[in-house]
Amino acid sequence: MPRLAERHAEQPVGAMVPRVFRLAARRQDTADTFTMMLEPTDGIPLKFIPGQFTMLSAFGVGEVPISVSSAANVDGPLQHTVRDVGAVTHALSHTPVDAMVGIRGPYGTGWEVGDGADGDVVLVAGGIGLAPLRPAMLEVLHHRQRYGRVVLLYGTRSPADLLFTDELKRWENLGVEVLVTVDYGTREWTGRVGLVTTLISRAGFDPASTLALVCGPEVMMRFTAAALVERGVRPERVRVSLERNMRCGAGLCGHCQYRELFICVDGPVLPFARVAGMLGTREL
Ligand SMILES: Cc1cc2nc3c(=O)[nH]c(=O)nc-3n(C[C@H](O)[C@H](O)[C@H](O)COP(=O)(O)OP(=O)(O)OC[C@H]3O[C@@H](n4cnc5c(N)ncnc54)[C@H](O)[C@@H]3O)c2cc1C
Ligand code: FES
Repeated sequence: MPRLAERHAEQPVGAMVPRVFRLAARRQDTADTFTMMLEPTDGIPLKFIPGQFTMLSAFGVGEVPISVSSAANVDGPLQHTVRDVGAVTHALSHTPVDAMVGIRGPYGTGWEVGDGADGDVVLVAGGIGLAPLRPAMLEVLHHRQRYGRVVLLYGTRSPADLLFTDELKRWENLGVEVLVTVDYGTREWTGRVGLVTTLISRAGFDPASTLALVCGPEVMMRFTAAALVERGVRPERVRVSLERNMRCGAGLCGHCQYRELFICVDGPVLPFARVAGMLGTREL
């Protein structure tokens, strides 16, 4: 891993300056989660790979790391799906359509879903974790013939927290095995109730050929990855996406350091085999 001074020397001048994007539209997905459709004011689309994030700024308020939730390599607006949890995400939730936001990046590692070709692909999402996984699912569906069985296991707190519900049906119609569960049901809910880990034994996939991509709260990723390994998926074929406090997003400031890793450049997507002992610890 290069030292901080070397990382600084590698950065091109201007890399820290955000590009300006126009908020073309905003869709309210759930009570606290919304998707921003963003268009570059310079007309140059942002190139990214599924799993990468950008530093998204509400001008005058601050900057936050947010994963890209749209498909890579297709025309259309850049999408970010955001949960309103604090100062910056709240400001973004109130940014008017046609106003400008800043974008730096993309940064970090991707899901590298192509490594799952010729085998089964299992995506496991907890809550808003479905947003960073969406570009990976769209990539798999774009090259559907390259993969075996495709499975999505998705858990949220309640039915009202389910994201992309229309799209879940569309994916199911395209042959994806979609299993959904909620922690707490409602009177109207007729689906499964329980943790997402309970879906792992029900899903139809061949562990020996599986690439598993897991995104959600850290405790969920820890138990999910362990359950996948227990079912026979190799630990190096299970990938998780880690979140840590970030400032620069580019390996310069050290805010996201996690033992020997800088999560903004070495992650956020990492093999479970590499971080198994670290999950669940905020700082090391
Ligand atoms: C690589 C990466 C990718 C991310 N992708 C997404 C994404 O696609 N969509 C998305 O909505 N968020 C994503 N996040 C999380 C997002 O960056 C934070 O929610 C955001 O920084 C919070 O900033 P804030 O100023 O709105 O809240 P703050 O004012 O910083 O925090 C307000 C409150 O929210 C709590 N909080 C902060 N972060 C989180 C969190 N992640 N989850 C729950 N509570 C939190 C704080 O502890 C505090 O109590 C990602 C984070 C990383 C590191
Ligand atoms: S080193 Fe600055 S956020 Fe990772």
